[in-house]
Order: sequence, then structure tokens, then C-alpha cells
Amino acid sequence: MFITDDVKYIGVNDRKVDLFEGQYSVKNGMSYNSYLILDEKTAVMDTVDGNFCNEWLEKLEKELNGRNLDYLVVQHMEPDHSANIGALKAKYPKCRIVGNTKTFKMIENFFSADILNNAVTINEGDELSLGKHTLKFVLAPMVHWPEVTVTYDLQDKILFSADGFGKFGALDREEEWDSEARRYYFGIVGKYGAQVQSLLKKAGGLDIKIICPLHGPVLTDTVSYAVKQYGLWSSYTPENDGVMIAYTSVYGNTKKAAEILRDALCEKGCTEVVFMDLARCDMSFAVEEAFRLGKLVLASPTYNADVFPFMKDFLHRLTERNYQKRKIGLIENGSWAPMAAKIMKNTFEKSKDITFAETVVTVTSAVKEDTVIKINELAAEMAN
Ligand code: FEO
Repeated sequence: MFITDDVKYIGVNDRKVDLFEGQYSVKNGMSYNSYLILDEKTAVMDTVDGNFCNEWLEKLEKELNGRNLDYLVVQHMEPDHSANIGALKAKYPKCRIVGNTKTFKMIENFFSADILNNAVTINEGDELSLGKHTLKFVLAPMVHWPEVTVTYDLQDKILFSADGFGKFGALDREEEWDSEARRYYFGIVGKYGAQVQSLLKKAGGLDIKIICPLHGPVLTDTVSYAVKQYGLWSSYTPENDGVMIAYTSVYGNTKKAAEILRDALCEKGCTEVVFMDLARCDMSFAVEEAFRLGKLVLASPTYNADVFPFMKDFLHRLTERNYQKRKIGLIENGSWAPMAAKIMKNTFEKSKDITFAETVVTVTSAVKEDTVIKINELAAEMAN
């Protein structure tokens, strides 16, 4: 598959993977992208997951059509992209590995220093000429590992963006970009918004016509849209003023309170209300929704003098990803010593720009008339 006259796609689709990176459900599989640049010199941009070594090497050999391979550019050392460096060097021993010093340290750790013979060390702003194509390297530490580098092809104006702008899903499964790109972003690099902002600033000086990520589709017509979305996501700016109600319930009483709130918010004309049971949804979807919307209501029973376990997990996932710039409402339940609201609130004590609704709803075992009054008060605050 051609990306441009000289750049070919040699990636693979993984339709068997159940949990990407050991935790993210990917019902539509995953792609591990790799690209070959055919110029006076030839260069491969990253390898693929280890389960696809033979398929990938066969594609590479076919596209090289008898030519030698001059360079392997290693933009990211996570094994879903780096697993076949050793196999590539065994097949093309004269191929020179291109990477930075952190990349090479990781190659020594995953493989051995031997395969770094004749390697090309690059740093911020360095260029590598392949003939017509000149590759300019831009360091992107922590997007997603410290060694990550993205590469700009001055000839075809392509940004090879490593994990950036990636998406869950194999390439032969049609689905819209936004949702699975957002879930991928917040799952994998959500913690590193500042580093993504720094990369976007550097990329802002480049005339980018095509983005070639290591996962998901190549972006052409939607480059500026994807950059805009990354600007929102990495600055933790809500995309929508809607409310997410994230609840967990043991006997249905906390759920009932959450349902009454949902109906009250809808009656008050909220633009969007998302209702999720944290015990039964995929947590990565719940995280994605929390970052998409501007308001969040947390509803949990008190359990072992803490919050219910699914809520604990959800709160941890939000705060470790620097959840901020949001309004939060709280509903707690407790039959003898309710304390979930206080614990949920305290979880965000180090988070930036979080405001809490003044009304805290306490369900004392079951929803009663006075609880409904408090829920309506909370709805009025969250709808504003
Ligand atoms: Fe797709 Fe961070 O690896």
C-alpha cells in the first residue's frame, strides 16, 4: 500500500489480541504500523509486534524487491514496535539502526549491544538524508516512553508520529476515529499532557500534510482536526459541557439515587448525560467519557470505611492521568457511618482546577423523600 510514491505501508493487523498492553479491550483488534521509504537509501520506520515477525519481514522483502535495507529508524522501544529489531538485523546485517542514546540503552536491555554496530545516533533537530527525502528528528520524551522520537519527512511533509495520533482497532475494521483515538490517548498517554503539549508546539512549526502513526489509520484530510483534538486532550479541556454519572452500587440504592439525578439533569435540559455502572462497564471507556465531558458525578456506597472497589479503581485512573478543569458532584451511601463523599473529595486534593458542587447527597441506606430533595439540589448545581 502506497502512502506516497516513495513511502509504503508494511504494517500488520492483529485481530486476535484481546487486551492491548495487557489491559485495554480492543474488540476490533489493533494495527502495528511500519513504513518503508524507498529512495537512494532505504529506511524502515519501526518494526511491529513480535507475533507478526514473519509476516512483516515478508512484506518488507517484497517491497524492497531485491534492494538492501540501509536504515531502521527506531522511534519507540515498546515491544509492540521494537520486538523484531534483532530479527531484522539478522536478516539485514548491514542495516544501520537510527536512534537516540536512550533508545540504544533500551536496545541493549531488550537485545544486546552487538546489534548496535554501525548505529546512527541522532538528537533533537538532526537530519538524515536518504536522497530526495530528508528525515528530521524531533524528540518526544514521555509520548509515551522517554526515548520516543517522531520524524518529519521534509520531501513528502509526513510526520511519522510514533504512538501519537494512534487509535485502537485493526485497519480493516471500519469505525470512526474520535472515540477509539480518545480512549487510546487517555489510556496510554493521558498522564503526559504537558509532554504532548510540548510536542504539539514543536510540530506547530512543521507543514504537515500526512500523519503516519504507529497504530490506526494514516491521517491525510483530517490532520488539522486530529491536531485540534490532541490540543484539547493534552490540555485537559472538556469537549462537551455534559455530565457523566459514574456510579457503583451493591443493592441498587445508590443506583436509584444516580438514576433520579440522571432524570433530573435531563429534565433540566443538560446537553448530554452519560450514565455508567463502574462495576459493569469497561473502565477505559469510563475514563474516556470522564475526560470528554466537563462535569462528573461520583456515586458510591461506603465500603470497609472507604469507597466501593470499582470507584476506588476509577478514581485512581483519573487522578494518575491528571484529571483537572472539571466540576464534580458527590453522592454517597452508608448505613451506619457514611464517609464515601469525603474520601472521594479528598482523592482530588492534589488535582488542579476542580470545583465541587456544594450539595452532597447522602443516602442513608435507601432513597427517601429528603434524599430526593437533595438530589434535585445537586441536579440544579450540576446543570448550571
Ligand atoms: Fe504502541 Fe507505547 O507503544
